[in-house]
Amino acid sequence: TESLTVAELAKKLHKEPSEIVKKLFMVGVMATVNQELDKDSIELICDDYGVAVEEEILIDSTDLETYFDEESDADKLVERPSVVTIMGHVDHGKTTLLDSIRKTKVTEGEAGGITQHIGAYQIENDDKKITFLDTPGHAAFTTMRARGAKVTDITILVVAADDGVMPQTVEAINHAKAAEVPIIIAVNKMDKPSANPDRVMQELTEHGLVPEAWGGDTIFVPVSALTGEGIDSLLEMIGLVSEVEELKADPSRRAMGTVIEAELDKGRGSVATLLVQDGTLRVGDPIVVGTTFGRVRAMVNDVGRRVKEAGPSTPVEITGLNDVPLAGDRFVVFEDEKTARSIGESRAQQALQAQRGEKTRVSLENLFEQM
Ligand code: GTP
Ligand code: MG
Repeated sequence: TESLTVAELAKKLHKEPSEIVKKLFMVGVMATVNQELDKDSIELICDDYGVAVEEEILIDSTDLETYFDEESDADKLVERPSVVTIMGHVDHGKTTLLDSIRKTKVTEGEAGGITQHIGAYQIENDDKKITFLDTPGHAAFTTMRARGAKVTDITILVVAADDGVMPQTVEAINHAKAAEVPIIIAVNKMDKPSANPDRVMQELTEHGLVPEAWGGDTIFVPVSALTGEGIDSLLEMIGLVSEVEELKADPSRRAMGTVIEAELDKGRGSVATLLVQDGTLRVGDPIVVGTTFGRVRAMVNDVGRRVKEAGPSTPVEITGLNDVPLAGDRFVVFEDEKTARSIGESRAQQALQAQRGEKTRVSLENLFEQM
């Protein structure tokens, strides 16, 4: 499309429609909220604001890590759980697989049931914990990667044995390759009479994923998310790959990590799901998250229980931030609230300036591409 209504433009620029109407009025254009604007008017308004629709990627999200530069003592490093993301084509069984893994592992000993509160959860297999990220669909994965956040250690690529490699399968392969994350193939729906795992192997070989059985180094695990067949082998393979990765962290440090998702809750205010990637996060910690800050008021774990602390690779939901951060934002805990506040406020200020500044300007073409 080559035009936008006032309301649509306002939304893209994160402004009130009335403000746009006023600006237009000032330059002699009478417009209503639902009126279509021509290219010139849009350009005028954009120029006037110098504002981008992409302002959320303007603040280098890795910036915050510079506040986390103290080196860990090698002798303080301990093994941490691997963080696993499940990707694959629509309907190939990602959610069912996650449910199946969860059911076989999480319910044991969890008297309170498994009401899932947050988009990430942890299981235990062979005395080793594994963290699964439930949320990152491809889009979330891309956003996080674009923002410099690396949260995933291993990607499980789910391919339905009765359907084979599809467009989103290829997309997922490309994401995982670009992020340099090891891929384990779960050939799903093996219970179906029409399952054809050889075809999946053949097709994936064409994308450089050659099964071990054929002399390559890609792990293929035939599974059925429906019957639970192969789930144990899959978990075992995740364990093996994690071991090779030698994933370590130092629980004695102040915490740092990444926002998985966040929203504004009517009752609780800003609620953010964080993945602790290093150190230990505690209730009461002064924290800067992206361009927001606060003090960790309450923490809830993946089974909805209140917890006081969360170590490396643990997902937790926290409250206590002064604003809602974005998925992919980094967080760092500070020693005192004063420092957290001043750094948080200055980052918010920077974000605002960047929004108004030259950096944020996008061409009109880009603006249309966003639609
Ligand atoms: P999207 O979230 O839409 O991308 O789909 P998904 O990949 O999460 O697939 P989902 O788990 O929703 O499964 C899609 C359909 O496949 C559902 O009807 C499942 O019951 C079915 N399904 C998933 N795994 C299996 C399996 O192992 N065997 C069989 N027979 N059906 C399965
Ligand atoms: Mg799903």
